[in-house]
Amino acid sequence: MKLGILGGTGWLGSAIGKAVLHQGVVNASDLAVVNKSGARRDYFGYDVQWPKSAQALVAFADVIILSVRPDDWRQISMQAEGKLIISFMAGVPLDVLQSTGARVVRAIPNAGAENCTSFTPMCAGPGVTNQDREIAHRLLGAIGSVREVDTENQLEVLTAVTGGGPAFPALLATTLSQYLTTSGLPAFVAKEAALNVVRDCAQLIDDPHAVVKRFVDYAGTTAAGINAAQDAGFQTAIFEAMDAVRKGPAT
Ligand SMILES: NC(=O)c1ccc[n+]([C@@H]2O[C@H](COP(=O)([O-])OP(=O)(O)OC[C@H]3O[C@@H](n4cnc5c(N)ncnc54)[C@H](OP(=O)(O)O)[C@@H]3O)[C@@H](O)[C@H]2O)c1
Repeated sequence: MKLGILGGTGWLGSAIGKAVLHQGVVNASDLAVVNKSGARRDYFGYDVQWPKSAQALVAFADVIILSVRPDDWRQISMQAEGKLIISFMAGVPLDVLQSTGARVVRAIPNAGAENCTSFTPMCAGPGVTNQDREIAHRLLGAIGSVREVDTENQLEVLTAVTGGGPAFPALLATTLSQYLTTSGLPAFVAKEAALNVVRDCAQLIDDPHAVVKRFVDYAGTTAAGINAAQDAGFQTAIFEAMDAVRKGPAT
């Protein structure tokens, strides 16, 4: 398989480019990268191809990953009949991408891509074959786990939760830390404590619902806190946050 990455030197494009090479999913001679700033002598220690344009990238590759920002994509013209496109772009729908003539998969990795722990939902457009799906799973599997959903709407709902990666856990850690500092603890202790519960103890969660139920059933001090959080609108706040992610920033 020959792979092209449009935006392969960006944050997400680099993550997948590096991962597929290091893991031997794609040979360096079968990988081409196009970016804005031009060819680099070295791509994570590999000698890859650097076509001069997006269209030249399409001519080289059987599969093209689109990892440019949506605003940049709108300036790029590309015809890709007979090819498989895997688009990482948030908010650029399948029907727009299909106007390139390609078979299209949309996939939204998260920040875990950096250390190959992304949860990547994907959905497939019309005409995508089982072999295409297998290729998409192989490529995206290099940066973590992959879950295909049935519709584009499901992809967008799921991405509201997964797309931000560490953002909401970090918000929880920040809030817990603020509670401690406003109660008089030094900032470094507050941060250490918040990181322990949000990052380290999170490793103990296999079934989130069962963990919460265990604490509630125990009916101790933590249960009092869980009940108070729900009474204060914890679930409502999180649901509203997810709705806001889906709506995007006010323009
Ligand atoms: N960041 C996230 O958490 C996240 C999560 C899921 C999906 N996404 C989506 O993933 C895509 C990439 O995001 P990112 O954060 O990786 O972006 P990024 O770091 O800004 O990288 C963008 C890449 O696009 C290249 N580029 C810009 N204009 C170009 C042009 N006209 N022709 C060719 N290449 C061009 C840049 O080249 P240079 O390196 O030369 O500047 C760079 O390699 C976006 O569409 C975003 O919606 C992002």
